[in-house]
Amino acid sequence: MTRTGAPRPHPAAPPPPGVTSHSSIGPLRRLRFALSLSGLGLWLAVPALSAMAMTLTGDDDAATRAQAVGGVLASMLLPAVLLAPLGGMLAARADRRLMLIIADVLRLVVVVTVPLVNTLPWTFAAAFLVACLSLVWTPAARAALPAVVPDEDLRAAARRSATRVLFGPAPVAALLFAVLALIAGGTLGRDSRADLALYVTAAAFLASAAAVAMIREIPATWSAPVPAPLKSIFQGPGTAAARGIGIAVAAASLTAGAVVAVARVHTGGLDGGDAGYGSVLAGLTVGLGFGAFLGPRALVPFSRRRLLGLAVVAAALALIVIALVQNLVVVVFMTGFLGMFAGAAWSNGIAALTDPDAPEDTRPSAYLRSVALVTAVVVFAAVPLIAGAAGSHRLELGGGVYDIDGSGIGLLVAAVLALLTSLVAYRRLDDRRGIPLVPDLRAALRGEIYTPPEQAAALPQRPARRERGVFIAFEGGEGAGKTTQARLAAIWLRDHGYDVVTTHEPGATKIGMRLRAMLLDRDTTGLSDRAETLLYAADRADHVANVIKPAMDRGAIVVSDRYVDSSLAYQGFGRQQAVEDIARVNAWATGGLVPDLTVLMEVPPQTGLRRLSAPADRIESESQDFHERVRAGFRALAEADPDRYLIVDAGRPQGELSREIQYRIREILPDPVPAGTEDATSTFPAIRDF
Ligand code: TYD
Repeated sequence: MTRTGAPRPHPAAPPPPGVTSHSSIGPLRRLRFALSLSGLGLWLAVPALSAMAMTLTGDDDAATRAQAVGGVLASMLLPAVLLAPLGGMLAARADRRLMLIIADVLRLVVVVTVPLVNTLPWTFAAAFLVACLSLVWTPAARAALPAVVPDEDLRAAARRSATRVLFGPAPVAALLFAVLALIAGGTLGRDSRADLALYVTAAAFLASAAAVAMIREIPATWSAPVPAPLKSIFQGPGTAAARGIGIAVAAASLTAGAVVAVARVHTGGLDGGDAGYGSVLAGLTVGLGFGAFLGPRALVPFSRRRLLGLAVVAAALALIVIALVQNLVVVVFMTGFLGMFAGAAWSNGIAALTDPDAPEDTRPSAYLRSVALVTAVVVFAAVPLIAGAAGSHRLELGGGVYDIDGSGIGLLVAAVLALLTSLVAYRRLDDRRGIPLVPDLRAALRGEIYTPPEQAAALPQRPARRERGVFIAFEGGEGAGKTTQARLAAIWLRDHGYDVVTTHEPGATKIGMRLRAMLLDRDTTGLSDRAETLLYAADRADHVANVIKPAMDRGAIVVSDRYVDSSLAYQGFGRQQAVEDIARVNAWATGGLVPDLTVLMEVPPQTGLRRLSAPADRIESESQDFHERVRAGFRALAEADPDRYLIVDAGRPQGELSREIQYRIREILPDPVPAGTEDATSTFPAIRDF
């Protein structure tokens, strides 16, 4: 399906021979470099302009300084809130390459004039103008990257690399600012410390404009819809879950925004100056990037929503430490942690909401971005005001004195507010309510999913009296080799005179085959999780009624490739639906039929998925995290009922595996021939080992 607004392939550019990864494409590499330079300029402009504004207050009053910095920061975000779609529209109508160059050159001019004009109002105006120009530059840059890549597959990677190019320079810029402030402080004197950083900012814009000008491959036109933040907030997120995630993202943005808002003044109080300010910003941006990367990958068996709630609570707690501990090193490190938690909350929130098939401007992620943006603008304006109004205080505590300045109080107020908001978010998002947090976390650290004892009791148990036949299920993740081992076991059993029926799920019956097509076809989009669960259960009900039960009634051994546990693992743990509910639905669908033995073939998802030869079906093409949860889910099920399961490491040689499985199957086998025959011949049928 073609996505609205997705750039068209560039007809003039055939795929270069031997291209295997997006980074090996020349124009893309050069464009990324050019855009990073421009990104560096933008991120350097933030501390440089705010430091400039602070210097220009010409006043040592902390409140005035805090408000000057807050004013610059708010001016830099306001255009994104008010004018974003306008920038996108303008960018869409003009030549993309020209737009990038013009935006860079104009930003250069604006930035260079700041130290020359040297007044506070012009600094604010410059912050606003740079931000307006960036509104044209950013969508142009985002759309330009994938557009220079001719190959559709590589284009997705190029689109992802756009985010790295836009945000990656942030920590570099923060550190560069710290270094420039140190150099300028020593050479230019106290009043012109920000000048050097501003000139370097301008130089970065110039270099970027020159680099973009030299790249000819950027196609001229494209359309990149940019959502309007206020509109998307007023329209709301559509679902209650998205609203909960929105609250969490607001709390995360509140914590990170508060640090940025008063960092310059706060580090001044800790004798850190501009260099300290740069270090705090570097800590925050590195933390954010690391957290955003780690978020969906950390503690995979743990509920994503619970993790999201916990991450924002942790960010709020980190902010309390930052507000109260007056030591620059501690502040920088805690800001790093805060950034990490906020980044993890952000990426988990986005991952929870993103429907990759939705057009860009209707995605709930646009809603989250708007929430983060608007919260940050409010925080940039409000926290410095609170800091100014509060002023410095000296507290006498148990004989000692404790000084807290206005910025510390501003941070503390923000932290308390963030903590309350994040607790609301946690309560709303928690999808494992009633399950204690500590054992849940401990199990996740071991790579397992915690199943409380009462929940384990609700899972299917083996009936006391066995049916006439024997039922063996093979389970496991993708590419575990179940099908092969199920077949080998069936051959071995037949070899020993048993009546064996081999079967599989989904799709062993006529109706089942139609359900299977619906379930696994990649063209099936938008199938809800519950509907998917019920379709698998429907297939299973038909399978039991028409294949398994009749075979067992005549005393056969049924060997099935997948059964109920697949639904518990994939639809329950994988899709994060209540496992007990799925167990109940399936118990009803199967009339309570539970295998006598389930062989769980264990394989790391990466290895298993690599073994698949056919193109991935709808389930196989789920994310790595999904498959990790499925694996952990299977393990949790097997470990809850060790008598009924055999867990084997599917990475071992096939012969060894078969032998281990045969040993275990032997324990549950009835006699291969009717008991009467045995009496008559008095020979006990031996089962040979291979
Ligand atoms: P299939 O091609 O049979 O896969 P495999 O060779 O791995 O067994 O496809 C079955 C797919 O359906 C597989 O990805 C797992 C998924 N599935 C569920 O999600 N829930 C279920 O209840 C069952 C039986 C399968």
